[in-house]
Amino acid sequence: MTDPAPDPVSAWRRLAGTCVLLDGFHALKHALRFGAEVPVAVTADRRAALALAAELAPDVRDTLAGLLTEVPEPTYQSLVPRPHPTAVAALAVRPSRAANLDKLAHTPRTAPVVVLDNPRNLGNAGAVIRLAAGFGATGVVTTGTLDPWHPTVVRGGAGLHFATAVERLAVDELPAGPLFALDPEGDDIRGVKLPDDAVLAFGSERSGLSAELRARTDHLLSLPMRPQVSSYNLATSVAMTLYHWSATGGAISS
Ligand SMILES: C[S@@+](CC[C@H](N)C(=O)[O-])C[C@H]1O[C@@H](n2cnc3c(N)ncnc32)[C@H](O)[C@@H]1O
Repeated sequence: MTDPAPDPVSAWRRLAGTCVLLDGFHALKHALRFGAEVPVAVTADRRAALALAAELAPDVRDTLAGLLTEVPEPTYQSLVPRPHPTAVAALAVRPSRAANLDKLAHTPRTAPVVVLDNPRNLGNAGAVIRLAAGFGATGVVTTGTLDPWHPTVVRGGAGLHFATAVERLAVDELPAGPLFALDPEGDDIRGVKLPDDAVLAFGSERSGLSAELRARTDHLLSLPMRPQVSSYNLATSVAMTLYHWSATGGAISS
């Protein structure tokens, strides 16, 4: 972990363009727990922030005490566009693409990789990254134009991008492993045990799975649903599928 910057405001302005904004106490807490490198962290109320840490996250309280610099409220607001009510924000170094690719390619894989095929909604992508972190998934890969490190996705992911490997790849660059694509027309998932090295792919909110992704698919699976309902929300589909993996023997590593 880097020492707190002597002048956090100029460090912030220098790093803001390249680092990831962690807005709020919980995002910073999660990022620290999963080893994020945090060169600068500010608060408008250090005493309140450390009290919150002592109450909710004693495991990172001392790290936060070493990192957090109090700045006047107007300065804080000038650094963070839409300040979180906890008045804590930090900048974290984004893991390199090479490091993420290493994690995604590592074998034997002990937990699935989630693929979002051309997702459109930043909130869905954040929610999926949070799910992947909770289930100990190896990573979340997106195809298409959405940046999975977009600030809105990072906000939705609650700082948990650092708990899994998050990367954007083309379909022909997806990690190796049996590809299970989720689609209402597939075979019922309840009859299938998902292997730990599965690549679990989900279609776009607008148009479902792309032709390219379908061509790479080994098994098409559906989630149980009444006939008159056309589809579930993307993030809830990921939740059910990861739950199914864990409920049929998948181990969530700590
Ligand atoms: C909102 S849905 C896409 C709806 C889209 N209009 C379509 O034509 O498929 C987003 C994704 O969630 C997954 N999904 C939603 N409901 C599902 C179901 N009942 N079974 C399997 N996957 C489902 C699929 O991967 C789907 O592509």
